[in-house]
Parts: sequence; C-alpha cells; structure tokens
Amino acid sequence: MPSFEQNNVRPTLPTFLIIFGITGDLSRRKLLPALWHLYRQHLLPPQFHIVGFSRRVFSSESFIAYVRSTLMDSFAKVDTRTVEDFLNLFSYMQGHFDDKERYIALDEYIQLLKHKYNSQVNKLFYLAISPAHYEVTLQNLYDSGTTKYKSPADPTRILIEKPFGRDLDTAIALDEKLGRLFSEDQIYRIDHYLAKEMVQNIVNFRFSNFIFEALWNNAGIEKVHIQLLEDLGMEGRGTFYSDTGALRDVGQNHLLQMLAVIAMENPGKLDSEYIHHARANVLKQLQPIEDFSRDIVRGQYEGFILGEGVDFDTKTETYFKIRAFLNSPRWKGVPFILESGKHMRQKVASITIYFKQTLGTLCNSDDSHGCQNTLTFTLQPQEDISILFWAKKPGLSSEVEPRTLHFAYRDSTLSEHLPDAYERVLYDCLSGDQTLFAGTDEVRAAWNFITPIIEGWHTQPLNAYAQGTDGPASDTFDSYE
Ligand code: BG6
Repeated sequence: MPSFEQNNVRPTLPTFLIIFGITGDLSRRKLLPALWHLYRQHLLPPQFHIVGFSRRVFSSESFIAYVRSTLMDSFAKVDTRTVEDFLNLFSYMQGHFDDKERYIALDEYIQLLKHKYNSQVNKLFYLAISPAHYEVTLQNLYDSGTTKYKSPADPTRILIEKPFGRDLDTAIALDEKLGRLFSEDQIYRIDHYLAKEMVQNIVNFRFSNFIFEALWNNAGIEKVHIQLLEDLGMEGRGTFYSDTGALRDVGQNHLLQMLAVIAMENPGKLDSEYIHHARANVLKQLQPIEDFSRDIVRGQYEGFILGEGVDFDTKTETYFKIRAFLNSPRWKGVPFILESGKHMRQKVASITIYFKQTLGTLCNSDDSHGCQNTLTFTLQPQEDISILFWAKKPGLSSEVEPRTLHFAYRDSTLSEHLPDAYERVLYDCLSGDQTLFAGTDEVRAAWNFITPIIEGWHTQPLNAYAQGTDGPASDTFDSYE
C-alpha cells in the first residue's frame, strides 16, 4: 500500500499559515506535530511560512524555543538539524484578539512576506482559540482587509475548530457572520474525526463491497453502536470542558459524523459537494428524542468537580449514551447508540454494526448469541476492521464458536507513519479540498438534533461513575438496546 506521502502531491503555491492560539493546547498537541510530519514528508509548499499569533509575550528567540521544546516533548527522537530547519519557518506576533491594530500589523507583515515571494500566495487563518473569541477575531480579520478575497488563484481560507456554536441559534448566528464576511469556499469547518483514516475508509469500504452494502439496511442490521471512550480526563481544559460538556464537545460533531458516514446513501461521486450533501441528508433524518428516560443516560465521573477550573456544583456531563433513530426507509427502526465518556476504562473509538441474528440456521437454539455477526471499524487505538463470524469447533463437536476476520492497517502499510487526522486537515486545506470538512447544512442539522437534548436533559439523573470503569450502570437503557 503506498504511503500518504507517495499518494499526495506537494502543494506548490507559496503559503502563509497564521495560527491564532499558537500557544494553546490544540496547537501544542496536534497542530505543531502535524506540521512537523508534513514538513518531513515534503508535503508543505516549498515556500511556506507560519505566523503564530497569541496573547502571550514572547521575544522571537523565546517563541522559537517554545516551538522547539513542544516538538521535543512530542517526539522521543527527532533529528535536531531538521528541527532547526523547520523552526526557520516560524515567526511570532503578539496580540489580543480584540486589538484591531494588531490585525493591521499582521496584514502589513503578510504584505511584506508576499513582496519577498513576489508571487500570489495562499493565506490560511487557523482559529485554534476558544470559541468565545471567534466572532471578534473574524470581524477584525475582515476589517483589516487581510482576508479580502481576490481570485481563486490567490486564495484566503479560514479554518475554524469545533465546537461551532453552543446550540442551534448560536451556530446559525456564527454561520451568518461567516457568510457575511467570507464566501463558502473560503470556510473550512474542522471536525478532525472526518479526517481520520478509518472514517474516510468507511465510505470506500461501504461502496466498494457489495457483500455488505446489500445488507446495509433495517432488514440486515439490528443496531449500530458508535463509541468514543477516553481513559484521560480534562487534561488542563477544566474551564472549557465544564462549560461545554461531553455532548457538545464530541457528540454534536465527532459521533454524529461517524453516524453520517455509516448511514449515508451512495454519494454518486467522491466529490466534496456530493459527500457533504449525502452526510447532511442523514443528519436531517435524525428523529428528535421523545423519551429521555428511555433513550438517554448521562453521567459524571467521580472527582470531576475537584478539577481545576470546574465549578463545585456543576451538573456538566462527562459521559453520555443516547439511542437515536433515523427517519428513512433504509434505517427505520434501527437504533444507533452513541456513547462517549472521559476517564473510562480504556481509550477506544469504534463503530460496531450488529447484523440481524441468523435465526433458523444451524445455530443451537439455546445459544443466546444467535450466531450474530458483527462488523467493527476501530479508529483508535489502532485502525482496523474485523468481522465476527461463527464456525464449527474443530474436532468431533458440532458446536459453533466465534472467529474473526481481521485487517490491521498498520500491518499493511510500508510506511512507518500513518497520517494523523490533523495532517490531513492541514494538507487538504493547503490543497483547497473541502471534502473532509463539515458543511453548513451538516452543522445545523446536527445542532437541530442535539439542542433539544441539551435543553431538556437536566430532568434526567446525572449518574456518578468511578474513574477507570465503563461508565454509569444503565440497566434500563441496556434493556432497550
Ligand atoms: C476533541 C475534544 O475534539 O476530540 C477532546 O475536544 C477529545 O475532548 C478529542 O479528547 C478526541 O480526539 P482524538 O483524536 O484524540 O480521539
């Protein structure tokens, strides 16, 4: 299997990447390592410059020292000479997000660099900041003139992280604001789960293998279980998380996007517009949850309220499990179980399809498993696909036992390195490919489903669970699965 770098073409247009919030958690954990990998694979444009914009006061030297130490912390082994070359790509601009003057200074700096390159350039503005600062940053960027759209040959793109709004109304307001300032082809709404290798593969897998697609409906599938479980907790993001909660943090976006790729119709083409449309159609079919006590479990791990930045009496959930249905002929009656939690027993992100039990077969009638087949896409900790099937036990017995067919991504690639989702996000934005970004219809449809839950679920108990477990016991809910 060719590696990511073999498959991809190096973008050629000189590019400036401006990262707002370069000293934040996202930049440190994801963006800087992703840029480093792209650099090492020669997938950044030959003329490329990164401007870090943040509130923190740094001299040029102390900023470079900060980036260097971030890389050293992220990788056990790095070639120091290559790191020093990479660091030459960076410069820093200090500024408060509401200080208009700093955006004018930023524009002047960009013009200066542009003059040096003597060429048209690609300008990417990455908002890796708290959503509370989105509006002012977008407005100031626009007012400074630096994002002014000139021509497709001279692109300016805005990358905006989730959570995209807090509910339907705020998402619409943000979207309208973006729509007034930029055109849709300039806006890249990031949901890094869409850029995960396995999530991309689900679309190819489904529409390239008729043996599964023929069963991909309510006649063949009993239920779908989508999980994003994490063994870690807040990781220094207590203030953000206690205000946001698990459902807004990963449910409205990552889990619903996983659902969308599992349930979507054949888009007809692997083209951004077609795929957005197919995913949005699924999200629009989500039925509102009518009975919270039957279809929702919410939980909070013990000790959450003692975390830094967390209010002592907070009712924020760190765990949820929701049973959702789609209102479409293909999926009518099939439950989609969406589950996520922090401080769980293990870190795993996966989607399991439970096929209908093969009743009336040679399966023993007293076997509770009913010879049920499952297909599991595991995104994390390691990408793989496995199928559970039943086979006769070897020997004189006529009993059946479970076996698995298994495909592990890492065993099948010659490259040591599978691209992280943020490498894909940055690479696609450099190349101007919006396929793996969320469209405005998708975001609105997702909020349309989530907002009534957030507004109404306080009537439900918030179940405590011990850290390192499988979440709150939920007998009532499980009996409905
Ligand atoms: C982020 C959430 O979007 O996704 C985090 O804000 C979560 O809370 C993270 O930990 C999970 O992403 P990944 O790629 O580590 O599974």
